[in-house]
Amino acid sequence: MSSYSSKIKRVTTHQLLSMKEHGEKISMLTAYDYSMAKILDRAGIDVLLVGDSASNVMAGHETTLPITLDQMIYHASSVIRAIERCLVVVDLPFGSYQGNSREALNSSIRIMKEAGAHAIKMEGGEEIIESIKRILSAGVPVMGHLGLTPQSIYKFGTYTVRAKEEEEAEKLVRDAKLLEETGCFALVLEKIPAQLAKRVSESLTIPVIGIGAGPDVDGQVLVTHDMLGITQEFHPRFLRKYADVSEIMLDAVQSYISDVKSVSFPNESESY
Ligand code: KIV
Repeated sequence: MSSYSSKIKRVTTHQLLSMKEHGEKISMLTAYDYSMAKILDRAGIDVLLVGDSASNVMAGHETTLPITLDQMIYHASSVIRAIERCLVVVDLPFGSYQGNSREALNSSIRIMKEAGAHAIKMEGGEEIIESIKRILSAGVPVMGHLGLTPQSIYKFGTYTVRAKEEEEAEKLVRDAKLLEETGCFALVLEKIPAQLAKRVSESLTIPVIGIGAGPDVDGQVLVTHDMLGITQEFHPRFLRKYADVSEIMLDAVQSYISDVKSVSFPNESESY
């Protein structure tokens, strides 16, 4: 692979911008633990997101709302210890930034200081712009997130595609521009019409990373456990499954159980 990113020793926010300028798509996946992050970084992923989807994937909650700042810091520090090359972005969890801009800054500082993260991600546009400005002025890079923002699920009432109506689409375009002007280094667009995502990506100089936002954006992000087929009960249209890891694990664990029961494990060479 001879691409711009293949020559990068450590991915930075500036290099993501150069990737957009060079027309090279950005690859991003979620990670919440050391072992998984090590594999993803070795594979050459550009960005790892310690997403608040850990609330669903790691802890089994129905929404992303319950995860705490302390829990995000725990996940993020595990990921940071594993990586050598990729950029690590960490979600500010629900309730850690919506109160006021001082609270938002304090939460961001904890993530940067205690986990060693490289950047934070926040859901929302105009409503949280004061907090974004304050965090940026402290030197913390911010990634925006618009469209389906799961922390607002009880406002939306459903996980369906967002911004299909003109009014919501125009607000999204305005928010995207505002996030760029304020200084965000990139933007995630989740579950919106592909044409709208294309329009936003073309109108911004910062990279736009899509999830369920079609191909005409500057990069893609998926939840790793979904694309590896570890989670089983989630089949949205935008998800491509690259493996069936849960089947591989089931097979392996059943073989182990059977070997233990039949005393064929451990054998002589596996014993001291
Ligand atoms: O928390 C998460 O995993 C996310 C991605 C879906 C973008 O925010």
